[in-house]
Amino acid sequence: MVQCLLLFAVYLTWYGDPTQTMAIHWLSGEDDHQDLVTLEKKEVTGTHRSVEEKNVHTVLLSDLKPDTEYTFRIGSDPQEHRFRTAPSDLTHPLRFIVGGDVFQVQKLFHQMNKVVVAQDPLFAVIGGDIAYALFNGPIRSHRKSLRRWISFLEGWSEDLRTSEGRLIPFLLAAGNHDITPEGSDLFFNFFAFPEKRLYRAIDFSSYLSLILLDTGHLDPIAGAQTDWLRQALKEREQIPFRFPVYHVSAYPSYYPFDSALSEEVRKFWCPLFEETGCRIAFEHHNHTYKKTFPIRAGKLDPTGVVYLGDGCWGVEPRPTYDRWYLEKRARKNNVYLVELKSIDEATIQALDLQGHSLDEMHLTPQESLPLQSQTVHQ
Ligand SMILES: [Fe+2]
Repeated sequence: MVQCLLLFAVYLTWYGDPTQTMAIHWLSGEDDHQDLVTLEKKEVTGTHRSVEEKNVHTVLLSDLKPDTEYTFRIGSDPQEHRFRTAPSDLTHPLRFIVGGDVFQVQKLFHQMNKVVVAQDPLFAVIGGDIAYALFNGPIRSHRKSLRRWISFLEGWSEDLRTSEGRLIPFLLAAGNHDITPEGSDLFFNFFAFPEKRLYRAIDFSSYLSLILLDTGHLDPIAGAQTDWLRQALKEREQIPFRFPVYHVSAYPSYYPFDSALSEEVRKFWCPLFEETGCRIAFEHHNHTYKKTFPIRAGKLDPTGVVYLGDGCWGVEPRPTYDRWYLEKRARKNNVYLVELKSIDEATIQALDLQGHSLDEMHLTPQESLPLQSQTVHQ
């Protein structure tokens, strides 16, 4: 019998097609080298890598059926876990969460997690500053950074499961507190990216593409990433719902408008969003709630892109500033609930720490967004 010594965290993500694959990761003690998952009645083996006194295990499942709930167990651990694959069409609504700046204040993290689980999302997208493993001030030791990742993954594993035991997978776009070009090894230890590159598109059949971007934390904004983005957006112009998700805001609500990374996003990426008809982009990093007016070519324009943010899942909210592009702003924790109701209609709702709605948008892919009157929240 396979002996499973101790499980610390079980977490799910996708590196491939969400309708047919699932990546299962878990953390165990250093003596547990078993990489076995029993999916329904089938045994699937994977790999592991040692990270100090823990092992990070990975089992990549493929050839799954779309829109199907699966049960699995890890090693000899009797606990059953569940996950659900994404549907191949939108014959019934699909819900997911977008939020960033997640695991800085434990109390806020856990409180917002309850709001997230209550929405019964299929998955969540994290727009960077996930575990707060790296700090800009005094450099954290490798060991402290490792502990942050483990604590985050344990917290996610405990909180982000539905009352029926279904685990909520997360997709990620990294932030400045997650990874640096010099210190990327720790980050990649916890995941199974096919290469050390963070920008990518995750395609849900032919109805949804998430464009996950790297605002200069591993790869520069300009150059190869922008070339890739131009091509990726062009290839997906017929997909009804396309959402770029990234960390540093083009249109910040707290940080200066002229910070270098914001200027780069506006220079290199925003024109591509506009050219290819993206209606919404999700931004983070500011620790506030914000919604911009639609913007095109640096001006308010009803045919432009609305930037939603601004990264305040589990951090102390910061003040916001009155800027020409902000339709709504508030010093409030928030996440976004996206509901794709059909290929013609979606709603995007901002939820605060109590689950109350801060704003709700109706999105029809073919129509321009109305330019709404400004409401200022302090
Ligand atoms: Fe950040």
